[in-house]
Amino acid sequence: MAQFGLIGLAVMGENLALNIERQGFSVAVYNRTAEKTDSFISQRADGKDIVATYSPKELVAALERPRKILLMIKSGAPVDAVIEQLKPLLEEDDIIIDGGNSYYEDTARRSRELQATKVNFIGMGVSGGEIGALLGPSMMPGGNKDAYEVVKPILTKVAAQVEDSPCVTYLGPGCAGHYVKMVHNGIEYGIMQLIAEAYDLLKTGLGFNHQQLHEVFSAWNTTQELNSYLMEITADIFQYIDPQTKNPLVEMILDAAEQKGTGNWTVISAMDLGVPVPTIMTAVNARIMSAYKEERVKASQVFDGVSGRYQGEGFVDKVRDALYCAIACAYAEGMALLKAASQERQYHLNLSEVARIWKGGCIIRAEILKPMQQIFQAQPDLVNLLLAPYFKEAILSRTAAWREVITVATQLNIPVPAMSASLAYFNSYRRDRLPQNLTQAQRDYFGSHTYHRIDQPGTFHTEWTQVDAESLQTGTAD
Ligand code: 6PG
Repeated sequence: MAQFGLIGLAVMGENLALNIERQGFSVAVYNRTAEKTDSFISQRADGKDIVATYSPKELVAALERPRKILLMIKSGAPVDAVIEQLKPLLEEDDIIIDGGNSYYEDTARRSRELQATKVNFIGMGVSGGEIGALLGPSMMPGGNKDAYEVVKPILTKVAAQVEDSPCVTYLGPGCAGHYVKMVHNGIEYGIMQLIAEAYDLLKTGLGFNHQQLHEVFSAWNTTQELNSYLMEITADIFQYIDPQTKNPLVEMILDAAEQKGTGNWTVISAMDLGVPVPTIMTAVNARIMSAYKEERVKASQVFDGVSGRYQGEGFVDKVRDALYCAIACAYAEGMALLKAASQERQYHLNLSEVARIWKGGCIIRAEILKPMQQIFQAQPDLVNLLLAPYFKEAILSRTAAWREVITVATQLNIPVPAMSASLAYFNSYRRDRLPQNLTQAQRDYFGSHTYHRIDQPGTFHTEWTQVDAESLQTGTAD
């Protein structure tokens, strides 16, 4: 009998099956198309403790109890369909784990529906791409806690190992795992956009070639501030030469970013919860704008574009500092969102643990997560990362550079939407008074929406068009 079952043999599924087997667990696999199963078994799984099955029924029969079945299939309707197929075949205490990028509300619904049955359900975010799946991903499980305890010995071995601890932990009930994975992806969008802006500033603003870009990003990757997987792969990308044209491959790639939805979901959830996430939101927006390729090409013939090169000194270091501050904001926004969602939806998230399991295996793994882990460990109730003395100092010592980079970019007509949004986030957050008193006045003016005063409690409305406004102000005390 196999110890672990896996459905879905796309590359993530195959790699996870190989990873699980390598950790000493026998695996039974099933894929909807039998040819895929056969080619996996005869090639990559050849000689390994992995058995093929050709129907959900066969898979269930091949597994020891309680059965543990990981779904690595396309999110959405296919997950519901497979759960429906498995439900009548499974028995008391068996466990289904959805390891795809499922929408958290779907996971919440599936959790509720399966709670009423004998089958246990875990919704688990898995990050790290194909390589992570094979060598050790970061895993974000949520759902049934008892079921997690059953699969924990397997998951802790399969996960990436950082400083002796595995990048997996039980996150919370229901859809907590998939929610955390979604926010991980939102932060991923933010950082990717910020890196793209830094690349544009160096390439367009300074005229750097790809060797120089490679060197700068490699050097940044050796710093404590910016060391990260995304920095590392960016440095690699600049070195890759297209075999056909002999140009750097990155320059031959169409500048229209695609997306599968997780960034969008993060922004929608943040807006629903009333949490500002401007860096993340702007990153989603930037992908959408990039996809308007044809329209942009036409507009570029109507308007002038980039105007000249930067002539000053020390710009590379300033871009590095701006990038660091903006990345810190992307994390701060994501963590604040997790905090709000946890309160609203009773996830009971431990943000220090979230930072810990993101330190290895996942796409946003980075050195910056180490101080974050420690900060949330010492101050679990911290409302915003920017308030931690560590980040306060780190950001204040770089604010001048951050501001200057955005000023230069603006003068050169180089768009830096996420860097600008992050600076505005910081500048808004640190203001005790914002101009939204005027917004409130306007709302009251055109729609009698009322306002609060700074000098007395209550709700007020003014007849703004009357000359003697004071006598027409009405209010109710709280
Ligand atoms: C990960 C990634 C992954 C995601 C891809 C594509 O953590 O391994 O986040 O889950 O699906 O990066 O996402 P987009 O197509 O939305 O860019």
